[in-house]
Amino acid sequence: MSELLKKAQETLDLKRPQVNPEYKPRYHLSVPAGWLNDPNGFGYFQDKCHLFYQFHPYDSVWGPMHWGHWTSTDLLHWQVEPVAMAPDMPYDRDGVFSGTALEDGGVLYAAYTGVSEWVGGEENSRQQQCLARSTDGIHFEKFANNPVIPSALLPEGASEVDFRDPKIEKLPDGYRIIAASRGKEGGQLLSFRSDDLKTWRYEGVYKANIGEMAECPDAFELDGQKVVITSIIGHAPELPGYQTPVCWVGHEEDGRFVEDNPVQVLDWGTDYYAPQTALTPDGRRILISWAFSWGCVLPTHRFGHGWAGSMTVPRECTLENGKLIQKPIRELEKLRLNAVHLENVTVSEKQALEQCAGACREIDLCADLKNAESFCMHLMETGEEHFTLLYEKDKELLTISRENAGHSLAKEGREEKPFSTAKVALKDGRLSLRILVDISMLEIYVHGGETVLTAQAFPIGKDYGVSVCAKGEAKILALDSYEMTASV
Ligand code: FRU
Repeated sequence: MSELLKKAQETLDLKRPQVNPEYKPRYHLSVPAGWLNDPNGFGYFQDKCHLFYQFHPYDSVWGPMHWGHWTSTDLLHWQVEPVAMAPDMPYDRDGVFSGTALEDGGVLYAAYTGVSEWVGGEENSRQQQCLARSTDGIHFEKFANNPVIPSALLPEGASEVDFRDPKIEKLPDGYRIIAASRGKEGGQLLSFRSDDLKTWRYEGVYKANIGEMAECPDAFELDGQKVVITSIIGHAPELPGYQTPVCWVGHEEDGRFVEDNPVQVLDWGTDYYAPQTALTPDGRRILISWAFSWGCVLPTHRFGHGWAGSMTVPRECTLENGKLIQKPIRELEKLRLNAVHLENVTVSEKQALEQCAGACREIDLCADLKNAESFCMHLMETGEEHFTLLYEKDKELLTISRENAGHSLAKEGREEKPFSTAKVALKDGRLSLRILVDISMLEIYVHGGETVLTAQAFPIGKDYGVSVCAKGEAKILALDSYEMTASV
């Protein structure tokens, strides 16, 4: 074990008991101590689900990247494993960046980006693709010939600075890595091939014209179609923000991806980036994501709580008419306790739903809005403080806002954009919502997961009340709510 890996582990062991758990979610994963960003190497190996992540053990802000590690046998309870990789080689000394993993012949291969030559700013860093192998899923040995895909293999015009996040796959005729790259015309995904994992060759552009830069690609088969996921840097009219995780559904032709459907935003919330998928042994494609956006500052860092960074719950993906649908994994239902059921609740003036209050809850409801102009819910409510969910029927807009939900996610003062909006059409005059509340995490699944919004909020009050109101008259046809058992 390298000195740096040992030091990272010792730091994690020392800092973990010192973490202030006030805002730690209880059934969503959050970093044990330090900082977390993207999920990495999500997949199965030796009967366990492995989830690695971008990890900085020394502070609750981003810093030289390591790979942290959890395992699980049921996707509900997660075991903190030893730090998997540290930036301890000349080619990755400035960061073991994001990547994916592949099980092959009893070995777990981790593909990641080695960042080096980071001298005086990002402009001078070099990003190259590396591999590491593990026979127990815990201890990794980096390849002797790393970087296996050096920047010398890049095609003309591709940046050596923005070349990262390898997605590794085994195909019938060898191995493939798809990596994100900044080309002359902006973001692109490049394809590389190998017969033996050691020697790689450039194959061509897998997908072009992706904003300014594409990050963290994933590519997989679902119902006989090819789905490509990436997190786009850049503005586009169809995208809600500057950094947006999206997917396309399509097919491959001569090693290139061809989209058959328009781009789809994976999550419309304020906090969602760099999602990645795994295939479960029973054949489900599950998606997990970092529940955060670059640029915010978490109160847990400002207050010295010793941790910053959470994940969404894993979501099951299916396709319906070329659209990716996401639902919380069915395992989560095992965490439900003390079910509450309500029917035919007429809503106009603000009223509390006392039965739904609680810091860790699920709330599923279907509201008839035929006679309402708008429908509003307050979540995480204590007195005047609340997280807002507002549906405006004339605009067909669902807005979530943490503006009045407690601590700001700005460095100081008010957050510039503490809200986000998704276009949502009613179905037969109805709005159906499935809401997960977990201390500082919120996930809102609309119409069975056609649209999803993820947000964080850090309420000062601890009532975690729920109330509803409507302009005109709304009717909650059915509502089911549960307390959720702590699992992580
Ligand atoms: C995405 C990202 C990746 C990179 C990693 C570094 O959030 O910028 O592109 O590999 O984070 O931590």
